[in-house]
Amino acid sequence: MSYLTYCTTALIISISLFYIYAKYKLSYWKRRGVKTPPTHLLFGNFKDCLTLKKPPGEVMRDIYNSADPDDPYIGFYIFHKPMLLLRDHNLIKQIMITDFDIFPNRRFGSRNERDSIGMDSILSIKQPRWRYLRSKLTPFLTGQKLKNMLPLIEECGKLMLKFIQNLQMSDHNKCEMKDFSSRYVSDVIASIAFGINTNSFDEKKNAFWKNGMKIFQGIKRAITFIIIFFIPEWCPLTEPFIKEPAKYFREIFWDSMNTREKMGYKRGDLMDSMLTLKNGKQNPIYKFEGDNLVAQLSSFYIAGFEAVSNVIAFALYHLACHPEYQTIVYDEIQTHLTGKELTVDLINEMSFLDCVIFETLRLHPPLPIIDRTAVRDYELPGTGLILEKDSSIYVSINATNQDSKYFINPHDFNLSRLDQIEDKKFYESLAFGIGPRSCIGQRLSMLIMKVALITILLNYTLYYDTDKKMSLNGNDAIHVFTYAADGLHVQFKKRCNMHE
Ligand code: HEM
Repeated sequence: MSYLTYCTTALIISISLFYIYAKYKLSYWKRRGVKTPPTHLLFGNFKDCLTLKKPPGEVMRDIYNSADPDDPYIGFYIFHKPMLLLRDHNLIKQIMITDFDIFPNRRFGSRNERDSIGMDSILSIKQPRWRYLRSKLTPFLTGQKLKNMLPLIEECGKLMLKFIQNLQMSDHNKCEMKDFSSRYVSDVIASIAFGINTNSFDEKKNAFWKNGMKIFQGIKRAITFIIIFFIPEWCPLTEPFIKEPAKYFREIFWDSMNTREKMGYKRGDLMDSMLTLKNGKQNPIYKFEGDNLVAQLSSFYIAGFEAVSNVIAFALYHLACHPEYQTIVYDEIQTHLTGKELTVDLINEMSFLDCVIFETLRLHPPLPIIDRTAVRDYELPGTGLILEKDSSIYVSINATNQDSKYFINPHDFNLSRLDQIEDKKFYESLAFGIGPRSCIGQRLSMLIMKVALITILLNYTLYYDTDKKMSLNGNDAIHVFTYAADGLHVQFKKRCNMHE
């Protein structure tokens, strides 16, 4: 046999073997009687995400929509790995809440032994260490702790207001909302988590913000996040992109922690709580020392920074497009605050403001996908389907919360729909995840978002830039987090009576 014939035969055999292997792997759901959308031989159902054509949130929405309206779930594959996307509200609650003990872990997360910050953060850690860690971090965010943090957040609100005032003076009264809100949120997190005062609106004092943006921006970072979320087995490949942010967080953290310890002062922030844990009695299950300390505040930063700034940006944009809602929310804020100081209790009474945020979260959940992995075989109630140990289930937050089965004109920003929704509590909280492992920062983020909206709306009216109106559907940037690809452009106009 000639060399060429030999190579051709080997190639044909390899391709045939791969074909048989792939076909068998991709028949996993069919063999169990579960529907799937049409599947690609190599990429499974994630081709558009893995080739960077569509953000994963949109790919998952397509999978969700390819099922029939009443299907409780649909199967899909990432490469050849089978996953199940849940669609039915009761099934989602059953798995994420009632049967949490069988689904306590995420598939998402660092698997790189050399990335101690990623591996041991609350975002990636597995049971039983997770439950212990969560029980130690929950007291960081009690009602009283949030009250202590309010003045620190308000300080950052003042810097933001000053920036808008300067915009007005320069006759350039419009800006891109995500860029704008990310500066405010960066200042807030620098202050309440790392205990440092920054001013991200000032080009000379915005290193913290710039470093934060570097973690999320750019195609390499987008790919890193896609790997961490959907192909965590590949995490070691992301090491070059993780090293630099990890080094930065370590420096910031230890600078602040060492100063705090030396000077012995308290600020009422998360660093105070971390110091108490560090100096408290240690349990071998999880010791609060070294990178374990850095990991928690860094994960608060990673989880909070993009999410909170995106919601503020989208909320401001929608209010700019809906002057009728702006008037109602302004009146509500005025009524509560006239002659009074801003307090957490007063903020919590502003129910229309809540509606603005929940409707924004329904349309633009910053993290559109959540997942869990089974620690043992599990029979899905009422279906007879057995999920094998280590298989993963997903919930598409955006598709579930914009399903036309539950919402009329689901893509419209409509604040009057809220009274008519049956499962209101489920939909209001879904953007923060569900069950014992849902977002630990929900109340904190509501506070940060509300302070921003109150501060701006009391002093300015918002208009959208007619030249740069966002197309509301299918215009997301390629990233795990939800972004408006072309930005959100809003104009500020000063109100007659300013409340600085
Ligand atoms: C609008 C703002 C935010 C949204 C929409 C949001 C959303 C989410 C979602 C969807 C999850 C996954 C939940 C699940 O798997 O069921 C999550 C987890 C988490 N979030 Fe948030 N988040 C926000 C802000 C914050 C902030 C400000 C912090 C900082 C304290 C934070 C810290 C965390 C942490 C630590 C987890 C992991 C919890 C655990 O595994 O026990 N988030 N968040």
